[in-house]
Amino acid sequence: MKGIILAGGSGTRLGPSTDGVSKQMLDIYDKPMIYYPLSTLMSAGIRDILVITTEEDQKVFMRQLQDGSKFGIHISYKIQPSPDGLAQAFLLGEDFIGDEPCAMILGDNIFYGTGFYRMLDEASKNAYQGKATIFGNQVKDPERFGIMELDSENNVIGVEEKPEFPKSNYAIVGLYFYPAGVSKLAKRVEPSARGELEITTLNDFYLQQGLLKAELLESGFAWFDAGTHDSKLDAANMIRTIQNRTGQVVCCPEVVAYDKGWLTQGELEERAKVYSKNNYGKYLKSILKEK
Ligand code: TTP
Repeated sequence: MKGIILAGGSGTRLGPSTDGVSKQMLDIYDKPMIYYPLSTLMSAGIRDILVITTEEDQKVFMRQLQDGSKFGIHISYKIQPSPDGLAQAFLLGEDFIGDEPCAMILGDNIFYGTGFYRMLDEASKNAYQGKATIFGNQVKDPERFGIMELDSENNVIGVEEKPEFPKSNYAIVGLYFYPAGVSKLAKRVEPSARGELEITTLNDFYLQQGLLKAELLESGFAWFDAGTHDSKLDAANMIRTIQNRTGQVVCCPEVVAYDKGWLTQGELEERAKVYSKNNYGKYLKSILKEK
């Protein structure tokens, strides 16, 4: 299974903070925004990850994440020349994906809650069985999102992009799992009225073939798209509260890697030394002591 983090975009809603730096490189409490989607893909067992960025931002991502070996994974990079829509990720990533299933996550999406690992596992299994999986979260303003329509047994029966009259309040969040062959299907997506290659069109192709599954994030599950100053601050406050109460660092890629056996004890020790003067480093060290 391959993974893509789509971390381009213009980030205009976060201006002026994004005038000189990519939105996904701004921090959410104690780590860069991109660490959250990165940890999510890693938690799904994905070790081969493509980071798609704008041309001007690519260098900063390379400096931060390098080739991924510090997290026991492999990271490669690709430029999206202009933000032409989410489905473009699968055209840009065609060679990278090859003939494997692929998950895609948006660089500003943060997930935290119970049952998530089970859902990631299920989505991954679906992808190997030829089915796509989308994730739904209830929102109060569904007209702003891609929406999934569900039947009484929570099967998806419709998907719609920013509908004027939404048929449900389940927003489709920025995490998608697709079976092998997704790039081929993505080539059939035509630009929408707003000129974007919509992921909703791609999801609709799977739906029409009876190959679209949905996982619903339970109430109490925290999902943020940290694309505005308020949602970014809300996300940071939530992460701070959880971390201070539990003593755990949320979405720490080094610890995800260590738990999966992708980093050795010695490698984690090295990582802890880099940050020895702060709480992140102390946390890495505490994990070593725990084991
Ligand atoms: P958006 O929040 O829709 O767009 P944006 O990041 O450009 O921000 P703004 O609306 O404030 O100008 O994008 C959601 C995520 O998807 C974000 O992480 C950027 C990413 N994205 C791309 O990388 N390429 C694209 O073509 C689009 C549409 C989004």
